[in-house]
Amino acid sequence: MPTAKKVIARVTELRELIAYHNDRYFGADEPEISDAEFDELVAELRRLESAHPELVVERSVLDAPGAPSATTFAPVAHRLPMTSLDNAMDADELRAWGDRVAKGLPGEAIRYVCELKIDGLALSIRYENGELVLGATRGDGKTGEDVTGNVRTIADVPARLKVRSAPRALEVRGEVYMSKPAFERFRMQKMQENEVRIAEDKKPLAIPANPRNAGAGSLRQKDPAITATRELSLWVYQLGDVDGTPQFASHHETLDYLRALGFPVNPEVRIVDSLDAVLEFCAHWQLHRNDLPYIIDGVVVKVDDLAQRERLGFTAKAPRWAVAVKFPPEERTTLLRDIKVSIGRTGRATPFAELEPVVVAGSTVSMATLHNREQVQLKDVRPGDTVVVRKAGDVIPEVVGPVLAKRPSNSKPWKFPSICPCELRSTLVQAEGEADTRCVELECPNQRDQRIIHFTSRGGMDIEGFGEKTVYKLSDAGVIEDAGDIYSLRAETLIEQGFGEGQTTNLLRSIEVSRTRPLEKLLVALGIKHLGPAAAESLARRFGSLDAIASASVDELAAVDGVGEVIAESAHRWFADKRHKSLVGKLRKGRVQFDNVVVVDAPQTLAGKTIVVTGTLTGFGREEAQRAIKDRGGKSAGSVSAKTFALVVGAEPGAAKVNKAIALGVPQIDEQAFRRLLETGELA
Ligand code: IVH
Repeated sequence: MPTAKKVIARVTELRELIAYHNDRYFGADEPEISDAEFDELVAELRRLESAHPELVVERSVLDAPGAPSATTFAPVAHRLPMTSLDNAMDADELRAWGDRVAKGLPGEAIRYVCELKIDGLALSIRYENGELVLGATRGDGKTGEDVTGNVRTIADVPARLKVRSAPRALEVRGEVYMSKPAFERFRMQKMQENEVRIAEDKKPLAIPANPRNAGAGSLRQKDPAITATRELSLWVYQLGDVDGTPQFASHHETLDYLRALGFPVNPEVRIVDSLDAVLEFCAHWQLHRNDLPYIIDGVVVKVDDLAQRERLGFTAKAPRWAVAVKFPPEERTTLLRDIKVSIGRTGRATPFAELEPVVVAGSTVSMATLHNREQVQLKDVRPGDTVVVRKAGDVIPEVVGPVLAKRPSNSKPWKFPSICPCELRSTLVQAEGEADTRCVELECPNQRDQRIIHFTSRGGMDIEGFGEKTVYKLSDAGVIEDAGDIYSLRAETLIEQGFGEGQTTNLLRSIEVSRTRPLEKLLVALGIKHLGPAAAESLARRFGSLDAIASASVDELAAVDGVGEVIAESAHRWFADKRHKSLVGKLRKGRVQFDNVVVVDAPQTLAGKTIVVTGTLTGFGREEAQRAIKDRGGKSAGSVSAKTFALVVGAEPGAAKVNKAIALGVPQIDEQAFRRLLETGELA
């Protein structure tokens, strides 16, 4: 196809796609693609239209902020149109917007108000003589839906204004949203309902994939009694049509006024006087978006001076005085190719999704855990589904749920396999009352490999270069059968297995280094059920050697601080098993140190004190700082509470910890003061 034809074809396709997804978004509350993907379609069409102006049509899908509203609610004509905003997808586009603003206000100083862009549903609320009279959705921007009954049930929406003399009329605009915790509660509740439905052989009901859909669905359903149960919230960000209010000169004054009237105005509003500062605000919130209990998808930048706004005016679609800086997506849709199970070192079978690779929040995701049998059932995701994928807490990819509209007609619910995927094909068993399904065959090669991987990992013997791939390779070749075999590995064997000379030397060197790991690391590496690093440390300090622990009675083990009956029983049983005896024998023969216990005799300056460290210190690694605290009898905690004695603040500290310390009056100290604290136990 010649380029011109290709471009025309793509432009036509983009217009269709945008119109279609616009309709899904505004009409049906069940979008099939994420906002970010939609924005990318729009951006691509804009790019093509500006490169090929001959293709621009008079009435473009780009002009319509939303499709006509659904018909189930009474229509409301907006007195002032509820326009959408133009997007800036990156710093360049923000600067381009800034240039256009500057051009419209030649020679004038410009102040910008930066606000968070709340990912919810736009709402207009009207008060007459101080009383709430109308709540309306945006609809197509000209005509919205009357959702007053539902709006009245939202706790954040004042039923009457907090003033002595209320304006005759006041319209405010804001975003209705469901907070993350409220969404989690809502989802849990829906999952429980589905559990009952599944038990009764009824089809599970679709669970909204994200807070936005849940919020929109809750506001745009007919029964206010149901909306009332949904924990919706509101942030107000704009004054609409007014009559009889005070005169304002700036946007931030209107926000102060709204706050005084009793409206929830988001506290994270900054007034700045340069685009650099705007970009700083954006960068900060892009990094910290997950610290907020609600979802934001960007930052809205508004010219503060209302007279300047007047002069800038509007385009057909949006105000020239504001722009939405969109964050890169954290949610994507992709094809779920298959669901498989992996077997962990304790035999636990964990289902996971094999996905058509997709870039989410900056990295490619092709697999995601589905946790357990129940989760797959409750989410009802099936091979062949298009699914929403997101990064939970910004790192772990997670399948949120299926896009039901795209489900193939012949799809069937996925069944948990009853056979282990290893060559022994042993049975997978779900014990009565347990959520997990397990492979019960101890010899299962999958379990064996996972046990060795655990042994060599960071938390265990930390054998550098001995990662998953190395384990699989050597285990598949029958060179290692358990972790004990690592210590009899010879250079010839490794070279025979295809390792290069350099790699072989390095591996043998890291194996050598690992022989002298402290006893507590060795204990953790063994993978004894219930035995974590803290209990391992206590056992190591109390008994001093692996042999002493192995021959201790359950009572002796249980008497150790931080070790209870359960851990003691488990450890005792572990050492009694003949396979484990053989493993311990191989380790001994392989010259692994069994009694490397670091004796600390540091003065107990921090006895009874809890210290929290945040950010990077120059003289201590994270673990080193924690150790220094513990060695002096103190407790190193992960979060700040009223009991925290001091917060040690390094470079790039966590905002949540610092804020909490400020709120609770916990002293914050720098690295130098931390050293002094370790020494003396006192704050300078
Ligand atoms: S101002 C004319 N401020 O984002 C100005 N909008 O993409 C209208 N939104 O339609 C909007 N947070 O639904 C504004 N702090 C904020 C916002 C915000 C979220 C939504 C709103 C708007 C959409 C534009």
